[in-house]
Amino acid sequence: PPAPPAPASAPPPAGTLDPVALDEALTTLPGPRVVAATAGTTDAGLIDPLPEIAALCRAHHTRLHIDAAYGGGLLFSDRHRTKLTGLDAAHTITLDLHKLGWQPIAAGLLAVKHPRDLAALDQRADYLNADDDTEAGLPDLLGRSLRTTRRPDALKIAVTLKTLGRTGLGALVDQVCEHAHTLATLIDDHPAFELHDRPTISTVLFRPAGTTDDAVAAVRRTLLTHGRAVLGRARLDGRLWLKATLLNPHTRPDDLAGLLKLVEGTTPR
Ligand SMILES: Cc1ncc(COP(=O)(O)O)c(C=O)c1O
Repeated sequence: PPAPPAPASAPPPAGTLDPVALDEALTTLPGPRVVAATAGTTDAGLIDPLPEIAALCRAHHTRLHIDAAYGGGLLFSDRHRTKLTGLDAAHTITLDLHKLGWQPIAAGLLAVKHPRDLAALDQRADYLNADDDTEAGLPDLLGRSLRTTRRPDALKIAVTLKTLGRTGLGALVDQVCEHAHTLATLIDDHPAFELHDRPTISTVLFRPAGTTDDAVAAVRRTLLTHGRAVLGRARLDGRLWLKATLLNPHTRPDDLAGLLKLVEGTTPR
């Protein structure tokens, strides 16, 4: 294969795919290969270096799948969509519109670049899609989905897209990303808290300063079982963090300050 482009010299952020390690793996592993990159990790909302990964996949003749379940919704936003530069190089992409798409579950999608990638789904069963019915133009979902008698999940997505459009959804994306920055700033400015990092999407990881992992886990469980707040948890850089994934566009700065008060009031000292 042609020499792949020299990977960027700066080390990748912890928790993202390292192009140097990927280059080594693709050079040594026999094919066929597929690389699964992530645009919006579940724990921290991090985005792998997609342009570098795409270039390596091209140079090594390797298929590229991008899990954009969380981050894919950034495409709706003119302000944030450039974070997904390189996404268009993927052969297949997963999107969960029950995250940055405001759908009730289930709303997971698989997008393929070439329709032939769906050929494996093209099953024939005489009682479902008889050849002569198909030739006569009767629609059926076989060939697009393995699911036959499941809920029509595409309908709610179509209704939302028609109602809000890309601009409407983009405005919601902008709002939740803004809320995440506001929360990160509140945490950063607060001596009782430690911020993991500035958010890439709308996930903020933080923990009460000077406490143990066990105390962090206990704070989360107490808030949950007392019905006060639902926070996630994530283990990163060897420590446990509280995780706030902000997805409600109606959140106000007061709500965020209130959340921190709750966490502070629950932390054992
Ligand atoms: C990055 C990422 N990929 C995949 C999934 C799984 O999606 P699903 O539950 O639709 O299979 C999630 C869900 O949280 C996710 O955050």
